[in-house]
Amino acid sequence: MHSFIRALPKVELHVHLVGSAGVDTVLELARRHPEAGVPADRAELERFYAFRDFDHFLKVYWAVQSMLKDRHDIHTLVVGLARELARQNVRYAEVTVTPHNHVTDGMSGDELLAGLESGRAFAANAGVELAWCFDIPGEKGLKAGRETLAFALTERPDGLVSFGLGGPEAGVGRAQFAPFFDTAREAGLHCVPHAGETTGPETIWSALHDLRAERIGHGTSCTEDPALLEHLAAKGIPLEVCPTSNVRTQQVPSIDAHPVRRMLDAGVVVTLNTDDPPFFGATLEGEYLAVATTLGLTHTDVARLAENAVLASFLPNARKTSLL
Ligand code: ADE
Ligand code: ZN
Repeated sequence: MHSFIRALPKVELHVHLVGSAGVDTVLELARRHPEAGVPADRAELERFYAFRDFDHFLKVYWAVQSMLKDRHDIHTLVVGLARELARQNVRYAEVTVTPHNHVTDGMSGDELLAGLESGRAFAANAGVELAWCFDIPGEKGLKAGRETLAFALTERPDGLVSFGLGGPEAGVGRAQFAPFFDTAREAGLHCVPHAGETTGPETIWSALHDLRAERIGHGTSCTEDPALLEHLAAKGIPLEVCPTSNVRTQQVPSIDAHPVRRMLDAGVVVTLNTDDPPFFGATLEGEYLAVATTLGLTHTDVARLAENAVLASFLPNARKTSLL
């Protein structure tokens, strides 16, 4: 099964750019920015990186974020992600970028875009097509929403396909962001908010009704509401399921207990994804293998999961066909 999964051309629909920074990338950044205080020694960095709990995850995430100062740093990040995707035969990825966080940390929008563009060109040469999702850090509120939308629509970089909403969900209602999603949609961007990762099915309903989500980031709690499961299946709304992330952030106790089984049984379009891979010790191959092993999937079932991701992507139809 492992070699079958490795050989399968794959698509990743839910991976955060900052959350994709592996140890090699962080070492390079830490040596370039010693003032950030991130360990520049491999063994020490590996200890700093080892996942402890959600608060520690955020600490490492923000430490990486704080070292991103200019186009070279963004380029380093994108190149690291592209190499890892190429290694796993991932041919296309929609990568979530949170411009507001970079700009708040003092990077200019031009530097961010230059790094994204040069990194994307590197990835294309390595056989990996990258597309971007610009997302609102929900916990930063409406101002961040307004700024993210303005940046996306003013700059409209090559490869930008979608508009998202991430961060914590509790106390950060989806509906307040509806006007931004309406404008993004009218401008031709697809709408892909996180929902139901850390809160219940009502957040997923809100993402569908208020934000008109075309896919749901995570959607883990949808199995708590049979009517929602039925709705997702009937409308063919794909879920960007990130099993290892959900286990590591303690939203579910184990892969075995993950609701992915019930999602599939209900006929929901499930795609498998990594979220913040090195932070959670995840790889896309590993997600496929874990789910296949736990659920006792056949090669045909696994190929169908990979096909779901191709079909749920925002690639043009001709490119989808080339990946099927
Ligand atoms: N940003 C980075 N990782 C995230 C996660 N797991 N949930 C929401 N927003 C995120
Ligand atoms: Zn996410």
